Amino acid sequence: MEQKTKMERRKRSTRLSEEPGMEEKTPLVEMKNISIAFGGIHAVDNVSVKLHAGEVVALVGHNGAGKSTLIKILSGAYKRDAGNIFVNGVEAQIANPRDAKKYGIETIYQTLALADNVDAAANLFLGRELMTPWGTLDDVAMEAETRKVMGRLNPRFERFKEPVSSLSGGQRQSVAIARAIHFNARILIMDEPTAALGPQESAQVAELVLQLKQDDIGIFLISHDIHDVFGLADRVVVMKNGQVVGTARTTDVTEDEVLGMIILGKCPPGAIAGPGALQLAAA
Ligand SMILES: Nc1ncnc2c1ncn2[C@@H]1O[C@H](COP(=O)(O)OP(=O)(O)OP(=O)(O)O)[C@@H](O)[C@H]1O
Ligand SMILES: [Mg+2]
Repeated sequence: MEQKTKMERRKRSTRLSEEPGMEEKTPLVEMKNISIAFGGIHAVDNVSVKLHAGEVVALVGHNGAGKSTLIKILSGAYKRDAGNIFVNGVEAQIANPRDAKKYGIETIYQTLALADNVDAAANLFLGRELMTPWGTLDDVAMEAETRKVMGRLNPRFERFKEPVSSLSGGQRQSVAIARAIHFNARILIMDEPTAALGPQESAQVAELVLQLKQDDIGIFLISHDIHDVFGLADRVVVMKNGQVVGTARTTDVTEDEVLGMIILGKCPPGAIAGPGALQLAAA
């Protein structure tokens, strides 16, 4: 009982310093009390997370913690058993991926789902091609538009005439992101965007993320790379066994503390404890 009171007090005292200036702003996305079970497994168990415009929130945790399942609920790939999703403060009806896109939610999967044998412009307009008044493909307009979008995201990109299969991992990533934002993504989900990339390409993805932040896009970033997380994310949400261990600004916790959250479920003073926090941590 005494322990619980102590924990409650600590939760309250850290809450004020946790998101200065953020609490009163309406989040771009709020997922509230989300649950889903597969058979007997509670893959996501009463999870609540927020994402603000221009913010990068990292979702971290061991394999099977429930990260991908949570974001698949947001992207409409999985149907939740319980909970609500709000976009700009209004409850969103997301039952399938098409619904999610209507709310500006786009996912960049690790397997980028690009058409390998055609160029960047063809990928950007895949299934939504621009046509001339004569009913032919308007390649000129599509390339011009692609140059405009890519110029903002990745100004050094020059390989507009080559099939995307010949591009580097980082360049392919920028084509996939260009496609998402060109069609009005406001909320971007990136599941392990740098897992298959070398250091130079990872740095390129980091630049892309910073560019997207400037455009006020909110990003959920799933990553196993703690350096990426600290380099890119404003806040980190740690999941374990389908539950949130805690949420913290990356400036308020150390990498070791986040590893302690991931491995032991131990919530440090700089974080807000979630339902999955190790209870003894408050003693
Ligand atoms: N379609 C499904 N059917 C049955 N079980 C599933 C399904 N999808 C996920 N799970 C289970 O839900 C739990 C959470 O899995 P999830 O893929 O969300 O974890 P994760 O945190 O993304 O892990 P990783 O870091 O390995 O990607 C796991 O126990 C997993 O086996
Ligand atoms: Mg996953």
